[in-house]
Amino acid sequence: MKPFADRVVAWQRQHGRHDLPWQRNRDPYRIWLSEIMLQQTQVATVVGYFERFVARFPDLAALAGASEDDVLALWSGLGYYSRARNLHTAACRIAERYGGHFPDTAEAIGALPGVGRSTAAAVAALAFGRRCAILDGNVKRVLARHAGIDGWPGDRRIEDALWRHAESLLPEQAIASYTQGMMDLGALLCTRTRPDCMACPVRRDCNAHATGRTHTLPTPRPKKNLPERHVRMLLLLDRGELLLEKRPAKGIWGGLWSLPEASEDTDCADHVRERYGLVAHSLRELPPLSHGFTHFRLHIRPTLLALAPCTKSLPGHVWLAPADALDAALPAPVRKLVAELARERPLFPRSPVL
Ligand code: ADE
Repeated sequence: MKPFADRVVAWQRQHGRHDLPWQRNRDPYRIWLSEIMLQQTQVATVVGYFERFVARFPDLAALAGASEDDVLALWSGLGYYSRARNLHTAACRIAERYGGHFPDTAEAIGALPGVGRSTAAAVAALAFGRRCAILDGNVKRVLARHAGIDGWPGDRRIEDALWRHAESLLPEQAIASYTQGMMDLGALLCTRTRPDCMACPVRRDCNAHATGRTHTLPTPRPKKNLPERHVRMLLLLDRGELLLEKRPAKGIWGGLWSLPEASEDTDCADHVRERYGLVAHSLRELPPLSHGFTHFRLHIRPTLLALAPCTKSLPGHVWLAPADALDAALPAPVRKLVAELARERPLFPRSPVL
């Protein structure tokens, strides 16, 4: 039997992905950007965001010269916004420290903000042909199954074992095809719930396949219940314009434009009078929605309030027509609410009147 890596490379060349927009050349900027976008997001979603991002910021210099707000606006809806802030900071650092030339070792790439060990290795291998191992979620699954490694890969001990195994399998040649092949195997064949073992080039020596454990490996994360948080979000409308509030730079949705919030049991009309000096003349509860973060689940009760006309400007806030607000950097659930509002005619609530 040929070595593991040779089989992966041969399979990648015939059956792997070759036409993704970041595979058109070996530009490290585009490869880095795609790897960051792909960290927590599916390929199908990333493609459109990637195309828009590189159309606006075609190279490192363009990104380094942009404002953080413009970068966040193009990231809006992808989630995990620290990725966008780190990307921007890293572009500025490359401009200052490396004269705008992308660093070409996994070590230097891994020192950039937002770039972990696996992402650094992926960029180094795909853009510069460096011989280094990747270990993202897909590859962990392929290796845990192939080598029959038991235990949750989030455990340090298990993760270390997987890294050692990943490094032991690296080929001497064709490192870019091998790296892409490992990603493609995980995404296309060795999927979580329905692995296509019959099409797999490494089935013959796969431990999970031989022992009937493809459905139990990798071992899932031990269950823990996520804490729940509840918040009211206020859609304050004055003559068709909506009030948006800039979030503090630190914390969830840092730097994004969001909606004013209140605790669940607040009287909304009293709250907007006390907090913003605004007078609401009618109010409507909208259907609730929830949003999952890594560490908690947020339950949102949106409330639409039509205001008596005012000409107040509030620091850290903007008034925008809902359709225009959609161009700003909005967190995903806020975008959903604003999009619904932008569709709705007439904008003003019909009942009940305060
Ligand atoms: N997921 C992470 N990196 C990827 C890549 N280069 N191609 C496809 N999917 C990926």
